[in-house]
Amino acid sequence: MNKPKILVTGGCGYIGSHTIVDLLDSGYDVVSIDNFINSSPSALKGIEAITGKKIENIDCDLSDTSDAIQRTRQFGPFDGIIHFAALKSVGESVFQPLRYYHNNIGSTLTTMKMMEELNIPCLIFSSSCTVYGSPEKLPVTEDTPFSKAENPYGATKQACEILYEQYFRSLSVQSGKSLASGKSGVSLRYFNPAGAHLSALLGESSLNAPTNLVPVITETAIGLRGQLMVYGDDYPTRDGSCIRDYIHVMDLARAHTLALEHLLDHKQTEPYQVYNLGIGEGVTVLEAIHAFEVATGVKVNYKIGPRRTGDVAAIYADNNLITQQLHWKPAMDINSIMSSAWEWEKVKGK
Ligand code: WQD
Repeated sequence: MNKPKILVTGGCGYIGSHTIVDLLDSGYDVVSIDNFINSSPSALKGIEAITGKKIENIDCDLSDTSDAIQRTRQFGPFDGIIHFAALKSVGESVFQPLRYYHNNIGSTLTTMKMMEELNIPCLIFSSSCTVYGSPEKLPVTEDTPFSKAENPYGATKQACEILYEQYFRSLSVQSGKSLASGKSGVSLRYFNPAGAHLSALLGESSLNAPTNLVPVITETAIGLRGQLMVYGDDYPTRDGSCIRDYIHVMDLARAHTLALEHLLDHKQTEPYQVYNLGIGEGVTVLEAIHAFEVATGVKVNYKIGPRRTGDVAAIYADNNLITQQLHWKPAMDINSIMSSAWEWEKVKGK
């Protein structure tokens, strides 16, 4: 019997590549689409080194709908799409809003066109806790309303979720059939993905210099950066620094495979469903730095600086929905995040 075949957009990116490893290890066939605007073909080597499997990557611009469909058709049929491909730098998006709208929303529209033209039954979308902005109540549940997007990147995540929800709901109305024969979709709202594959053969290696905390910690520890700036210690939190929900990228990847199985087994009763994807605990910036030092024995040179515009004081997930419905639970904690990120930092680019 043929193995289900999954199309992964942004398959050479940080989360895409780790998810492909989990899919291959779970018995799926995979084709990637990635034009390397913020990723490297080296991810394909890492995937092969870990799984022993070579996968096809289609190097095309996903926002060019007709070209992308024409280039992808020959590799089908596909049982599902997982859509990671997006520009994701909050800071960069403020200076290049139209590039972010064209790329992130354009590629999302292409995925819907692909579902129709290539008859693909289900889709998983890579969303972000950014859609919540600065939440009133913690932990954040899925029915917490969107707050005003703080930047164009966050606006694209909110827009794409709205487009997908309306698309899948309209299909189920049009078809009038039970969901089993319709198309269905899931959005996974990531909290703070971090860490690297435990083999140290795959990790975060975007082309843009990282601005996220964990890679900045490891680059400071290895000497690529002179000093880490902690953006503020005057927030209303237990030690004054911001609180985030750090989730190991391998735990994040596993959740995608479980969501896919849920859809392929027709267990989803709604045309569209959203899940928070975080471990359900908050860690402050200073606690994260301390966790790195304990996990690796390496000191981090940091100093306290001014707050970063747009940062929220605290956010972490209520993850009851994904644990109950998809039977997902995190296997790793902040210490595994820090030790695996450090092992990757020591070998990446070699
Ligand atoms: C975490 C904390 C910083 C760097 C972003 C995106 C979000 C998602 C995850 C894509 C904050 C502090 C950081 C540094 C610091 N990305 N920090 N010094 O901003 O929570 O979320 O990445 O989906 O959409 O918004 O992550 O790692 O940048 O910051 O003090 O050099 O670390 O102030 O409190 P963030 P982050």
